[in-house]
Amino acid sequence: MAHQPFASAPHIVGASTPVPAQPHIPTEESLAPVVSHDWVNAEYKHLVVDASPKALAVKPGQFFNLLCPSPDSGELWLRRPQSVYRIDRARGRLEFLYKCVGRGTYGLATLKHGDDLNMVGPLGVGFTIDPACKHIVVLGRGVGIATLGPISQLAGERGVGVTAILSARSPEFVMAGELFDKVGDVIGVLDTDGTSSVENVEAILLKLIAERKADAFFTCGSNRLFSLMKRLGKQHGIPGQVAMEQVMACGLGPCYVCVRTFEVNGKQELRRVCIDGPVFDLQEAVGW
Ligand SMILES: Cc1cc2nc3c(=O)[nH]c(=O)nc-3n(C[C@H](O)[C@H](O)[C@H](O)COP(=O)(O)OP(=O)(O)OC[C@H]3O[C@@H](n4cnc5c(N)ncnc54)[C@H](O)[C@@H]3O)c2cc1C
Ligand code: FES
Repeated sequence: MAHQPFASAPHIVGASTPVPAQPHIPTEESLAPVVSHDWVNAEYKHLVVDASPKALAVKPGQFFNLLCPSPDSGELWLRRPQSVYRIDRARGRLEFLYKCVGRGTYGLATLKHGDDLNMVGPLGVGFTIDPACKHIVVLGRGVGIATLGPISQLAGERGVGVTAILSARSPEFVMAGELFDKVGDVIGVLDTDGTSSVENVEAILLKLIAERKADAFFTCGSNRLFSLMKRLGKQHGIPGQVAMEQVMACGLGPCYVCVRTFEVNGKQELRRVCIDGPVFDLQEAVGW
């Protein structure tokens, strides 16, 4: 019988008769074969999958809602949001870097080479780089470091300078140094030696501003670092964007689980992180 796709049929990456593309819909469910899946340290895993053309069109800061296998005998109903850490268009692959924190991510961690990852995306609004930008600063901590990978990649491809300030508890959690090294300068700051303090990071940012290496700010993963960038951005007239994390259910807009408060022109506004974000203007976002 001829292939009869219906709206919810997933795109099976590598299948001989893939579901015909619907070019007017930028998002799809796909089954993406796992290429590799390794522990980076005691808490984080690096997952590489073969991706569909629509998935590969993901923009920096957008995310996928992943169907995680259950790690136990119970059911696991809701998908878990993960932003993309690296886009490898040459090899048709997407990479995720994630921290194992609960049932979803521990279930995700059980996927092996050759298994299929069921993912919906790309979802949400991603980062943008103003064409006038010559040098950007990305500031990430923890899982936020993963989210800042693709914007740094894009800056590198456009010849825009990048300084990546990567904040972590201790040296083994300064991840992705290699990715950021390829596109710019990496400054690791740690809790163990006190360099991750707000005062020290502020001094680093002020130096970059003085050297004219801060045309735009990008941040993810820490409330205190977000607040610092927001304050300095306002004082020095530097535009910025923040990728926010919020517990989600549908990831598509209708359930309103992910609503947060924003301040727009002095007025409070409610926005959904999944569909209005996860990337927002630094000055409109409110700390958490
Ligand atoms: C847009 C977006 C992009 C993300 N990208 C990444 C990424 O690249 N790498 C990564 O490691 N994580 C990322 N996260 C966080 C990730 O979605 C959560 O860690 C994951 O959903 C936890 O699921 P779980 O079932 O393992 O944990 P749960 O059992 O659901 O929760 C365990 C703990 O994690 C907290 N938690 C649950 N969901 C979130 C969430 N959405 N944000 C923050 N804390 C949460 C819970 O409050 C709880 O303390 C992202 C989240 C969003 C919204
Ligand atoms: S997660 Fe359902 S509206 Fe955002």
